[in-house]
Amino acid sequence: MTETPRWAIIVHGGAHQTPPEQVAASRAGCLAALSAGRRVLEGGGTAVEAVEAALRVLEDDPTFNAGYGSALTADGTVEMDSAVMDGQTLEVGAVAGLAGVRHPVSVARRLLREKEVLLTGAGARRFAERSGAELCAPEELISPQQRKTFQEHDTVGCVALDLRGHLAAGTSTGGLTGQPAGRVGDSPLIGCGFYAEDGVGAVALTGEGESLARWMTAARILHRLPGRTPDEALRTVLEEMGTRVGGTGGGIALTPDGQAGWWHTSPDMPTAYQRSDMPSPRTYLTKTEERDDVHTPHG
Ligand code: GLY
Repeated sequence: MTETPRWAIIVHGGAHQTPPEQVAASRAGCLAALSAGRRVLEGGGTAVEAVEAALRVLEDDPTFNAGYGSALTADGTVEMDSAVMDGQTLEVGAVAGLAGVRHPVSVARRLLREKEVLLTGAGARRFAERSGAELCAPEELISPQQRKTFQEHDTVGCVALDLRGHLAAGTSTGGLTGQPAGRVGDSPLIGCGFYAEDGVGAVALTGEGESLARWMTAARILHRLPGRTPDEALRTVLEEMGTRVGGTGGGIALTPDGQAGWWHTSPDMPTAYQRSDMPSPRTYLTKTEERDDVHTPHG
């Protein structure tokens, strides 16, 4: 009989086509983020704390489109969106169009216990200042790679289940490369880019934000989770999204009993996951890679 996992965590590094020279860095970054979140969970920390810890690592890594190394707008600026949701209380903290902050996810986490669920632009930045977030000059978040090549990536995300059985979800993104200033995608929108509810599940999404928002993709996945594997729920809803409103994407999900799943309709989606009943984490670039891997014995 298999043990019910006491904790579980899954992270992703964005739905996109990973250039060959970034494959190793994408896997390493996902594993580093997973380790940060796993340490929190093993130490008895909350799912919210684990999600924040994991996403901070991805925000520091210029391989990913979040925090340092975010995609640039058409004006050549960085505007970041992030959200955190606590599945126990259904509280949400989200920020959009945020500039000059090293860790948008930590601003979102600080907003979690406030009445407001979403702050934008200058108001989000003022809240970041007031709540003691790490500030920086907006241009300090532009990585040399972004200046040179205008790279295409997408949002990062994490979902976690802690030792007390609570779920959390989080997202962080610089939005889409070349997006008009002021554009906001799915990542800070409740029920579109993320959702978490104890007893039901947690989900974090990535991909074409307009499609994910129009299809209320995260909410639909949550409704599909009971009685299905996370992979099935993600796959069905993402494929329906493509048919009904167009667009590709990907996502990660957890059930209340610690089943971790992921799916993508994009070419790649670097991912790493671990449950307390797994001796080591697994990391993949594509779902096909995972399918081949499960037939290979693991030491
Ligand atoms: N999925 C991120 C965005 O569209 O902004």
